[in-house]
Amino acid sequence: MTTAAAGISLQRDGAILVARLDNPPVNALAAPVRAALADALAQAQRDPAIRALLVTGSGRMFSGGADISEFDKPMQPPQLPELIDRFEDSDLLTVAAINGTAMGGALELSMGCHYRIASEAASMALPEVKIGILPGAGGTQRMPRLIGNAAALDLIVSGKPVVAAKALALGLVDELVPADGFEGAALDYVRRLLEAGGAPRRTRERDVDNDDALFGAALAKLPDTPANFAARRCVLSVQAASLPFREGQAREAALFLECARSPTSAALIHAFFAERQAGKVDRLDPAAPVLPIRDVAVLGAGTMGIGIALSLADAGLEVGLFDSAAESLQRALAHIEKHYLGLAARGRFDEVEARARIARITGGDDARLARVDLVIEAVFEDMALKKKVFADLDARCRPDAILASNTSTLDVDEIASATSSSHRVLGLHFFSPANIMRLLEIVRGRQTSDSVLVSAITLAKRLHKVGVVCGVCDGFIGNRMLEGYGRESGVLLMEGASPAQIDAAITGFGFAMGPFAMSDLAGIDVGYRVRQQRGVDPADEKIYAVGDRLYALGRYGQKTGAGFYRYEVGNRKPIPDPEVDAIVEEEANRLGIVRRAISDEEIVERCVLPLINEAANILDEGIAMRASDIDLVWLYGYGFPAWRGGPMHYANTLGTAGVLEAISRHARDDRYWRPAPLLERLAAEGKPFA
Ligand code: NAI
Repeated sequence: MTTAAAGISLQRDGAILVARLDNPPVNALAAPVRAALADALAQAQRDPAIRALLVTGSGRMFSGGADISEFDKPMQPPQLPELIDRFEDSDLLTVAAINGTAMGGALELSMGCHYRIASEAASMALPEVKIGILPGAGGTQRMPRLIGNAAALDLIVSGKPVVAAKALALGLVDELVPADGFEGAALDYVRRLLEAGGAPRRTRERDVDNDDALFGAALAKLPDTPANFAARRCVLSVQAASLPFREGQAREAALFLECARSPTSAALIHAFFAERQAGKVDRLDPAAPVLPIRDVAVLGAGTMGIGIALSLADAGLEVGLFDSAAESLQRALAHIEKHYLGLAARGRFDEVEARARIARITGGDDARLARVDLVIEAVFEDMALKKKVFADLDARCRPDAILASNTSTLDVDEIASATSSSHRVLGLHFFSPANIMRLLEIVRGRQTSDSVLVSAITLAKRLHKVGVVCGVCDGFIGNRMLEGYGRESGVLLMEGASPAQIDAAITGFGFAMGPFAMSDLAGIDVGYRVRQQRGVDPADEKIYAVGDRLYALGRYGQKTGAGFYRYEVGNRKPIPDPEVDAIVEEEANRLGIVRRAISDEEIVERCVLPLINEAANILDEGIAMRASDIDLVWLYGYGFPAWRGGPMHYANTLGTAGVLEAISRHARDDRYWRPAPLLERLAAEGKPFA
């Protein structure tokens, strides 16, 4: 007998009632699902012929846990903690059969069941901390009772998943069975339990020790900052598991509420939804086919070409790597081999896997170029060169092959104009190191076809990247915004701040790195060469004077052991350098700039406000489709503090009127400080960026 309630299906098998979570796409424990589970339990308890309730998931997931879209509304009963209590309190046997991924609330439900069996292919996590909250349905109380304080603390504070074998070793589940024939094996397991007279075994009745030293050490590792808001409360909540269960539960609920109301969780949940929105493009032909991409040519085996090739090979794609300089190609292939063998040596995967990935990247030849599905060009940033390369690709590649450029600033439409098929040209702007950084700006040219665009969006997902679609302009979303930020840090340096003070103010705001440490990492020579190519407005001399002097001294940054800072051999720690301070003084004197003391607040305002202002223009011009896309670019490409939710979300927390007021306070005759029309409109209407 099978019956379907909202979001679950019920099936009777002898003395066992099977409740199968069935709420695609992830079997989320939304209100109707919780109500149906409560009914199923009540129904089983009423029926004297039923002796056990088995909960499992349909499809490949057990369940993704709570429905995050319910978070900002009053939660409909039964609430999850209460539902799980009923499963635990039940005199009828409750068993969880974890068939696939069990996340958050779903793992908490399993821990409230009397027994747990999992598929060998399952994985489990309490990832709540990643959206700024804690497992508030008993997870912090039951997990330490099952696997001990140290292991529970590790999983809950990190939010990281464990595979089935590890879960078994920890004691999180009682038994594993093969993925094939899983449900049959789960039913057998319950039958065996019943035959052996298995009685309810309540997690809450287990003891757990307090271990003040462990919790003290965990808190000491988490400074009391907004970034650690939830992580610290996770620690406190796990510590409360040594209290009597109901008291611990009450403490967990109070800490959960603190987290749920925090700006940190609002920002992280914003980013969570932003990521799910990204890549959704309005007015796209729904019939546009996704082109299959298996074989990719990467042109240019430099910094970016190597990283892109690694990213593709990691995702199982075949790569032909090309470079006009034979020795560069050889160096790149040697580097790739070393990279993968190094990861194998460090235990990331075995040597067989390393060899398989190495074998996916080979030196390309003409025949390969004529065959590939996609070309990603990463040669020098030079328009004439790129146009020549694209004209050549146009003639030599399959007519339906996609042609992409990794240019960081150049006009993709102009590059496309060198071909006779601009519909198949677009930008795929990776960030360095391309195999690590999650951002991919997908630059849609004027003529780029819908089919090519959706294929690129699909590729981004396959590479586990956050693909953000944007239009053509100088610097696209990220680098165009970076321009104003970088310029302002240069002005602040001349007006009286030191590189170390500016970097400290910016990291104090929460960025991973300040602009001068970043410049030393990327290479002062890189920025210098860009300026040489583009030319510099004489009015901007004060911004670049120090960088030009450092370039002339051969101080290119980390790679030469000195830049805005100096570095000791084998150490990347930036050390302030009086020599640089002297250069700054000299240049300021030469340009007639009077230096003064500058506060950290002023540094942050003057660096961050131009970002927001330029973002407003980017949004107004339709270069970005939505404000949250801009947030993703800065969160995943530029180290904007995650707990601030990105520049647009941050602007909304200040209020658009507040942002406009602050910009007006610093106003000067400079296009980066002219209030964006969209910002003015929103401020006047009292509306946020949306
Ligand atoms: P790179 O200088 O490290 O590598 C460029 C490679 O292209 C060199 O090995 C060169 O021999 C090769 N090359 C030159 N002409 C060629 C041709 N006609 N055919 C085949 N190979 C050719 O440069 P990098 O840093 O990898 O930059 C490449 C592109 O990626 C540029 O457009 C750059 O703006 C862009 N980009 C760079 C980022 C970075 O952080 N370095 C970030 C994002 C984009």
